[in-house]
Parts: sequence; structure tokens; C-alpha cells
Amino acid sequence: MLKVGLIGCGFMGGMHSACYDAIEGVQVVAVADVRPEKAEEVAKVHGAVIYATGDELIANADVDVIDICLPTYLHTAHAVAAMKKGKNVFIEKPVCMTEEEGKLLLETQKETGAQVQVGQVIRMWDEYVWLKEAIDKKEYGEIRTAVFQRLSNFPTWGWENWLHVAEKSGSMALDLHIHDVDFMRFLMGEPESLISTADRDENGMIEQIFTTFKYPNAVVTVEGCWDYPADFPFSATFRVKCEKATIVNDANGLAVYPNEGGVIKPEIKPAFVGNNDIGGNLSSLGGYYNELKYFVDRLNAGEPLVVAPLAEGIKSVQLVSKEIASVGGAQLK
Ligand SMILES: NC(=O)c1ccc[n+]([C@@H]2O[C@H](COP(=O)([O-])OP(=O)(O)OC[C@H]3O[C@@H](n4cnc5c(N)ncnc54)[C@H](O)[C@@H]3O)[C@@H](O)[C@H]2O)c1
Repeated sequence: MLKVGLIGCGFMGGMHSACYDAIEGVQVVAVADVRPEKAEEVAKVHGAVIYATGDELIANADVDVIDICLPTYLHTAHAVAAMKKGKNVFIEKPVCMTEEEGKLLLETQKETGAQVQVGQVIRMWDEYVWLKEAIDKKEYGEIRTAVFQRLSNFPTWGWENWLHVAEKSGSMALDLHIHDVDFMRFLMGEPESLISTADRDENGMIEQIFTTFKYPNAVVTVEGCWDYPADFPFSATFRVKCEKATIVNDANGLAVYPNEGGVIKPEIKPAFVGNNDIGGNLSSLGGYYNELKYFVDRLNAGEPLVVAPLAEGIKSVQLVSKEIASVGGAQLK
């Protein structure tokens, strides 16, 4: 039984808690949140011990792994402390804020031998898993062009408004848009070059970004936005044109349009359908379940974490940071 210490019991901490509750071979034995009522909410589901801060949990809790669901600017310090304490770690995405933090994380991992998985969940989201398999098998030939979009209304839940402070979240680009950039890297590797354009709010923060990435034989556009009106439905979509077919995932579900005509509708069977559905066009919250089940099963089996390891999460932060730098920064003052 893998014993988890969960740090941060806000939006994602609640999601992870629901997933652990549904996964066998794991027990959340300790939780921490600086808001006692949030810690209490999660602790009562698992009968877990409550700590007032992440630091206190890391210093004192009898756990095998630490799961970090803190605001992004707090990830690195907690992850380093957890690794130094001899724990394996799950860190929500984006794994860190800067190049320097990424370096420190990798050095600490090397020094401690800790196993670390990053919450780049799209790598384990059913429709995207299906796409990756189809592309890897070259079922429809090579990718010629691809478009990935992730669109949302304005997120208002963050503790002390941290999502809308550039130094704490890195803006929408690092927080939301990184999902698709990371998946693009997983699918196609590193691009040769990029061109980004961004729209900003009245404080100069990036609220929407359009980036075109150039590959030797393909072009990919990735769009992210999180300031659509309150009733705008969340959507995460892709359209991938391959040599022999075009694959689409949108509000109508997953569909393959072969060049010779017709349409194929691949059947997606989620391994788990959660209660915390965030709506939109995705089949379920199965991606969160899938990534944590993978994390738990692999650690229990003594096997390495290879789908979304620390080094990969850091490379995605580096690529999004290049986009952000190319438009002048996360916030123009
Ligand atoms: N994978 C995804 O799809 C996804 C979705 C949303 C958020 N995230 C990521 O998850 C992380 C958390 O985001 P969120 O939306 O849950 O934020 P949130 O504000 O809802 O939750 C963060 C929690 O951390 C607590 N906290 C702050 N400082 C603390 C400390 N020192 N010790 C203990 N608790 C502390 C806050 O009280 C809050 O409850 C971020 O990195 C975010 O980017 C990922």
C-alpha cells in the first residue's frame, strides 16, 4: 500500500483526492493546506492526518510519496524538500516557473535518485492516447499539419488569485496552453522554430496565445485562451491532417476522415468516469485517474515512471517560456 502525502487541497488537490479514492493500492494518509477548511474536506474522505503547511507535512509525515498540488511558484521548493527527504514525488504541471528551477529540480533528482512524475495529463487523456497510438503506428501516414486548441472561461477559483499574477502562474500560456504544447512534443518531438502572437488583458497579462510551430515536414498551430465569457463552455480539441486521413476531436467526439471518403468513429472507453466532471467535450476525468493510477501502479511494482517524467515536464516549460519570451513576457508592465 503506497502511502501518499497530498499538499494543496484546492481545485487539483480535490481532483487527486477523488482519483486516489478510486485507485487500489494507495492510501492518502496525510494532507496539508494553509486553509484548514480545505485540508479538512480532503482529510475526512481518507481519514488522513492534517498538517498546516506543505513544509510541515514533508518534515513529519510517514509517507512514501508526496503529491504537490500547490500553486506553481511553490512547486520547486516543496519538490526539492520532498526529494531530499527520500520521497518519490508527483508534481502538478507546469512543473516549475523558470530555467533555474528546472536545473535545481534535475540536480536534486540526480542527487537523491527520486522518481518524479509531472501532471502533464494530456499524455494520458483517452482521446489523445488514441491519437498518439495511431500516429506511432503510422496508420494514417505522417502528420502534415495539426491544430490544437484549449479554450476556457476565466478561472476564478485560485487561492489568493495566484493564477492571475504573472510571477506565480506564468500566465495562461504557462498554466493552460502548456498542456497542448507538451502533448505536441510527446507526439512529434521538438519543433525547429516558432512564431507566437498574444492577446493581453488591461494589466498586460497574456490571456490568449496563438503559436505556429515549424517541424521539418509539418506545421502545427496551438491556441490557448482562458478569458472567454463565464458561460463559454470549456473545450479541448484537435484536428490532425495526416497523409491518408484527417483526425478530429471536438464537440462531436473523435472522428477519422479517410482521404478516400467516409468517416470512422473510434470508440473510447474510459477506464474510470469520475464525479468531478468539469464539463466540455472531454469524455470524463479519466486522464487524472489514468495518470495517478499509472503513478501508483508503477511505484508499487518498482518500475520507472516513463510517460511524463521530470525532464519532460521541464522541457515543456522551456518551450512555452520561449513562446512567452518571443512576445515580450508573461506580463507587459
Ligand atoms: N492538470 C490539470 O489539468 C490542472 C488543472 C488545474 C490546475 N493545475 C495545476 O495544479 C496546481 C494547483 O492548482 P489549483 O487550481 O489546484 O490551485 P488552487 O488555488 O485551487 O489550490 C492550491 C491550494 O494550495 C494551498 N496552499 C497554498 N500554499 C500552501 C502551502 N505552503 N502549504 C499547503 N497548502 C498551500 C491553497 O490554500 C490552495 O488550497 C497548479 O500548478 C496548477 O497549474 C493542473
